Amino acid sequence: MQYTTLGRTGLRVGVAGLGCGGFSRLGLGTGGNEAGAIAIIHQAIDLGVNLFDTAAAYGTEAVLGRAIKTVPRDRVVICTKAPFSWSSGRADPAGIVASLDQSLRELDVDHVDVYQLHGVPPASYGHALEALAPVLIREREKGKFRFLGITETAPHDLQHETLHRAAQDGVWDVVMVGFSMLHQNARTRVFPQTSAHGVGTLLMFAVRNIFSQPGRLAATLRELAEDGQIAAALADDPLGFLVHPGGASTIVDAAYRYVRHEPGVEIVLFGTGSPEHLRTNIESLLKPKLPEPDHHRIGELFGHLIGVGLDAPHLTRAGKVK
Ligand SMILES: NC(=O)c1ccc[n+]([C@@H]2O[C@H](COP(=O)([O-])OP(=O)(O)OC[C@H]3O[C@@H](n4cnc5c(N)ncnc54)[C@H](OP(=O)(O)O)[C@@H]3O)[C@@H](O)[C@H]2O)c1
Repeated sequence: MQYTTLGRTGLRVGVAGLGCGGFSRLGLGTGGNEAGAIAIIHQAIDLGVNLFDTAAAYGTEAVLGRAIKTVPRDRVVICTKAPFSWSSGRADPAGIVASLDQSLRELDVDHVDVYQLHGVPPASYGHALEALAPVLIREREKGKFRFLGITETAPHDLQHETLHRAAQDGVWDVVMVGFSMLHQNARTRVFPQTSAHGVGTLLMFAVRNIFSQPGRLAATLRELAEDGQIAAALADDPLGFLVHPGGASTIVDAAYRYVRHEPGVEIVLFGTGSPEHLRTNIESLLKPKLPEPDHHRIGELFGHLIGVGLDAPHLTRAGKVK
């Protein structure tokens, strides 16, 4: 593993962080069981991963808590999130404390490292800043968490309005942002601001369904070509040019390597329930940048696209798909 510092938190964290949500939810979202989820977490720890991102909505806080019982608490960085309901403009600030306490009980720890507001839409950002953050900062002073974070709702905030503001407001130590080969505008809308203000960055949506399901990539790019948004010639084998000796080994390899070396990206989260994917994803994230001509071409061909491949499961606190 390679380690870096997560913004102004000073936390030393592996550049590959294990996401416990997304469509996989450690395999629990794709038919796996708790033993399999715990095995994934242990395999990640053995490979040097020390940051784990979960959320009340994922239904994986308890399993993460049980898995990390085998390691000293200060060897892992635990990030969790308030339920989506607390990210709405109407949320009552008092209830968020009960939710934080519930997350600590689920994880069975006395504190988490990063507590994040989950998927805050631009219209609710003012409420998050003025009504929720002060309440949470009082809880931080009691030692319930160490750093405050905020995550965007990528499919509903295509211009990163929430994080564009959050990066500069001095309240949020860490942000979670969507960035991929087909959604590159965090390069101008978020990373310059987080870098200037020392805000830590956790990256999501590097692969998601668009790059892990080949049929889906082809169908999406065919639609974009029909719509005149990309050259028609690209629709047949859209990203095939990336896979060659000396280049990427697969499209997924390319997708993780593309985001990993972007200036301003600190930790790339990856989600999986597969031991094989876990191993190869960490390998990808530790490989060098894609060859410069390939990297450059991705920017040239797709840099103008916004919001392609940002799909989301709709989860409840128990991690059930609504
Ligand atoms: N607003 C938010 O706060 C928010 C939103 C989204 C995500 N997140 C966080 O970010 C984390 C990462 O989520 P993500 O969806 O963006 O992760 P991702 O790594 O971009 O995509 C994971 C998906 O790709 C598949 N996959 C992973 N490695 C693969 C490989 N080598 N080959 C083929 N398929 C592969 C996984 O299925 P398999 O199980 O088959 O590997 C899973 O369906 C989440 O777990 C969560 O912690 C937060």
